[in-house]
Amino acid sequence: MNKKTFLITGGAGFIGTNLAIHLTEVGHKVVVVDDLSAGDHTARLPEAVDFHKLDIRDTAGLTRVCAGVDVIVHLAALPRVQFSIEHPLETHDVNINGTLSVLEAARHAGVPRIVYAASSSAYGDQETLPLSLDLPPQPKSPYALQKFVGEEMMRTWSVVYGLKTVSLRFFNVYGPHMDPDGAYALVIGRFLKLVKAGQPLTITGDGQQTRDFTHVKDVIKAIVNAGTLETVGQGEVFNVGAGVQTSINEIAKLVGGEVEYVPARLEPKHTMADITQTKARLQWEPSITVAEGVAELKQEAGLI
Ligand SMILES: NC(=O)c1ccc[n+]([C@@H]2O[C@H](COP(=O)([O-])OP(=O)(O)OC[C@H]3O[C@@H](n4cnc5c(N)ncnc54)[C@H](O)[C@@H]3O)[C@@H](O)[C@H]2O)c1
Repeated sequence: MNKKTFLITGGAGFIGTNLAIHLTEVGHKVVVVDDLSAGDHTARLPEAVDFHKLDIRDTAGLTRVCAGVDVIVHLAALPRVQFSIEHPLETHDVNINGTLSVLEAARHAGVPRIVYAASSSAYGDQETLPLSLDLPPQPKSPYALQKFVGEEMMRTWSVVYGLKTVSLRFFNVYGPHMDPDGAYALVIGRFLKLVKAGQPLTITGDGQQTRDFTHVKDVIKAIVNAGTLETVGQGEVFNVGAGVQTSINEIAKLVGGEVEYVPARLEPKHTMADITQTKARLQWEPSITVAEGVAELKQEAGLI
């Protein structure tokens, strides 16, 4: 395999630490940039990782760290929907100006390729499922809008400056090291934490709402393909989801334990990715079912 140097922004976070572990295991060199604003999880990073505590908005600092890098995986963000509704300026600054800074650092340092963590939240509520790339995005929060704008910035930097960019719209990523109080872990991480504490699983609304839960190992495969396949890099956008709808009630059954229903909140009723393009052009196939993924997490948590 062709060894590369990957720089992961937000590499101390949930997806980032899993990615850094995988990339070092298979022999790539890994540089991590993170300001640790979401907490210091650097102990999870392999020793071989070159870690820099840096804010992505520090373009000059980032440009220096980018020297010799082959692929940037841009994960750093303030990823909470509700937080973005309460703090539109602050989240705009990190999620949009920060992304601009990453693109400019890449350009000035001569990094040829960027993989961008986009979000299924760009779709908002749609009339039809599965969520396919031809549906017009309908962001319903500053966060969703900011993530969508990031995709357009990736595409534009590809067209104008010739950077190779690929945006991956992640659908509800879960797996080891997810933050049980975090932005997306939401239900699976929260349920595991509640079961461990001997408390009932709180389900919002009727629990019939569905999500497309995607294991972080599958997400990592998509990132690696987007970062290495020469056949992509023209600003394309791909859905990265398992392509399966699982209801919150089903998740509660898989986790096990008593349930308690609480009032519904404003959220999309259903999500499910159309992954036809991702399979064809990114040579990607999800491989871990939610039943397998939850069973593995229960085992790790000592619940089975
Ligand atoms: N987890 C999901 O289900 C999911 C779904 C869709 C999209 N995404 C996107 O994937 C990316 C990673 O998500 P995650 O779940 O690992 O989130 P995370 O919060 O665990 O990781 C984000 C990391 O970015 C860092 N960061 C924040 N602001 C920074 C700044 N200004 N400079 C440097 N570092 C900064 C944080 O300290 C954190 O370690 C995010 O861009 C998110 O929007 C995640």
